[in-house]
Amino acid sequence: MSTRDFDEQQLPLQQLSELLWAAAGVNRSYCGGRTVPSPHGEAVIDVYAALPAGLYRYDPIHHCLALKRAADVRSMTGFQDFVGMAPLDLVYVANHGRMQDVPPKLRETFAAAAAGAMVQNVYLYGASAGLGAVVRGWLNRRQLAEHMSLSEDEEPILSQTIGRPAPHHRAPV
Ligand SMILES: Cc1cc2nc3c(=O)[nH]c(=O)nc-3n(C[C@H](O)[C@H](O)[C@H](O)COP(=O)(O)O)c2cc1C
Repeated sequence: MSTRDFDEQQLPLQQLSELLWAAAGVNRSYCGGRTVPSPHGEAVIDVYAALPAGLYRYDPIHHCLALKRAADVRSMTGFQDFVGMAPLDLVYVANHGRMQDVPPKLRETFAAAAAGAMVQNVYLYGASAGLGAVVRGWLNRRQLAEHMSLSEDEEPILSQTIGRPAPHHRAPV
C-alpha cells in the first residue's frame, strides 16, 4: 500500500537502520550477500538517504551512512507536496559503470528490476513497522543528479518517501 500523507516526525535511528538494511544490507556475512538480488551479484544500485541533516549514501558493507552533502535535498527528490516534508526520502541511483558485464540493451531493465526489489523490501519493512511508504518515478533525474553531486555514471531512477502515516491514515489497532 502506498502512503502519501505523512507525519513530519523524524524516524528513530533504529528504524532508519532496519529499513536501509532491508533495502540493501548484507544478510550473509561469509560472502557479503545482500537482502536483494542483483545482476551477476554486482550491486548496481546505490541507496541514498535524504534527511533534514543532509544527504547520505548507505554503505551496506559497514552498515553505515556516509555523508555526501550537508544539505537538505529532500524537496529535490520529486514534485509532490509531501516530498520535502516527510522525514525521509530514499533515492535509488543506478551505477552504469558497474554494468559493463550486462549487455547494453538490458542495463535499464536490470537496474529497474534491482531497484524494484529494494523498493519492495522497504514497503514490506514499513508495513511491519507501522510506517508508510511510496515509491516515486516522477522526478527530475538530471536536476536531482546535480543536487546530489553524482558522477556521469550515476543516475537516480526512483525515489521513495517513508515516514509515519499522518494520524488519520493510520490503520486501527
Ligand atoms: C515504477 C513506479 C513509479 C511510481 N511513481 C509514483 C510517483 O511518482 N508518485 C506516486 O505518488 N506514486 C508512484 N507510484 C506508486 C503507484 O502510484 C502505486 O503503487 C499504485 O497507484 C498502486 O497503489 P498502492 O501502492 O497503494 O497499491 C509508482 C509506482 C511504481 C511501481
